[in-house]
Amino acid sequence: MNQIAPKKLFIKTYGCQMNVYDSDRMADALAPHGYAPTQDMAEADLVLLNTCHIREKASEKVFSELGRLKELQNEKRASGGDLMIGVAGCVAQAEGEEIARRAPMVDMVFGPQAYHRLPDMLAKAEGNRHMHPALRRAVVDTDFPEEDKFANLPAAKKDVTIGRGLTAFLTVQEGCDKFCSFCVVPYTRGAEVSRPVAQVVEEARRLADAGVKEITLLGQNVNAYHGEDASGRAVGLGELAYLLAEIPGLERLRYTTSHPRDMDDALIAAHRDLDFLMPYLHLPVQSGSDRILKAMNRKHTAAEYMRLIERIKDARPDMAFSGDFIVGFPGETDADFEDTLKIIRDVGYSSAYSFKYSTRPGTPGANLTEQIDEAVKVERLARLQELVNKQTTDFHASCVGRTLPVLIERVGRMPGQVGGRSPYLQAVHLEGSTDLIGAIHEVDIIGTSTNSLVGRLRQAVAA
Ligand code: 5AD
Ligand code: SF4
Repeated sequence: MNQIAPKKLFIKTYGCQMNVYDSDRMADALAPHGYAPTQDMAEADLVLLNTCHIREKASEKVFSELGRLKELQNEKRASGGDLMIGVAGCVAQAEGEEIARRAPMVDMVFGPQAYHRLPDMLAKAEGNRHMHPALRRAVVDTDFPEEDKFANLPAAKKDVTIGRGLTAFLTVQEGCDKFCSFCVVPYTRGAEVSRPVAQVVEEARRLADAGVKEITLLGQNVNAYHGEDASGRAVGLGELAYLLAEIPGLERLRYTTSHPRDMDDALIAAHRDLDFLMPYLHLPVQSGSDRILKAMNRKHTAAEYMRLIERIKDARPDMAFSGDFIVGFPGETDADFEDTLKIIRDVGYSSAYSFKYSTRPGTPGANLTEQIDEAVKVERLARLQELVNKQTTDFHASCVGRTLPVLIERVGRMPGQVGGRSPYLQAVHLEGSTDLIGAIHEVDIIGTSTNSLVGRLRQAVAA
């Protein structure tokens, strides 16, 4: 009998959480076509690189990985096998045919809007395999489709998506209409599109039924969500949160990434009303200088951002804020940079991500001439990170002595330890049996270690 072994799929994911979600959807879409995931690239029949184009460094990684893959492909061919290679994600969307030209051993190049067409592309690419390698052409698909991509992709399931199974990502919105002048997202992910409410609720319900306790809603501009309900009315993220709060078994909700301009009253009210909406908000401001914010086309001032922070704190006093910052945007002076340090001090972040400005071809920022010296960027980034790291340490220290509900997700690094997350997304380690895994437990925070909290399980107090 000629038994066909399942083919092996290896996906390497770069960049944001939306790519993590997309990679899992691609794996799900290919499973019915005989592809089983592997963690070992060397045994793969198909390797997909799910790429990120947000900064130059992220893009460059793809071409060096393709160089390594070419060697693997050659080795396999030398021993009578083969390796198919697909480049997905935002670099594929941005560079399209250019990748096929620069890296002729690639079989497929396709952007994030084409994932539901992956089985068709693969069938075409497999057909091309019968040609001599020198004559093969990559299948390229960087079109923005008319049809609903999500309706045509398998919804998130427990086993493939989320590893440990207690937390899951759920993409509710994709694309961006904000056009910040430094950012490629509006070009690579396209215009803002929200998934219909029923589709989101159904996927969340299915995840909860499979044992997921915490969902993080994803979107490039997640709080611009405006999915249609059954009557065709647009529902915002705040209203969606109330709907998801009704799902049995779902205990925690998070969302990322938000734009300050889309933090509307309904969403702020949801933070006031819903305990299951976690008090941690990633709300990038990018810069504290009004001049730079204007040049970045952020459409808000530093003072407006601060007022927003105050309104959110009024609704949810223990809200922990996280942010993104860019240093060295063209024209940024020392005074502009000092304004950024000031807004960081004023807000008091629990964590933050910071980047040196990276020119992205095709964005308005690429036409600005007053580029900042690399050495200045390096120095500013170091100062900014020193301040933010201190804030993170202080925030962790301020939790010592509190009792926090911790979703215990896994065994700890040390024997006899388990680990999980606080409402503020901090990692928490404590002594305890693996029976604790899978539920939220009250934990006394007794100390901190690098980037995490040390806890002790709260003992039930006798009445
Ligand atoms: N250069 C540096 N950082 C960037 N980001 C986006 N585009 C650029 C760029 N061209 C950062 C922003 C954004 C985060 C995801 O990446 O801070 O919020
Ligand atoms: Fe990029 Fe700005 Fe849209 Fe965020 S809001 S994805 S930074 S254009």
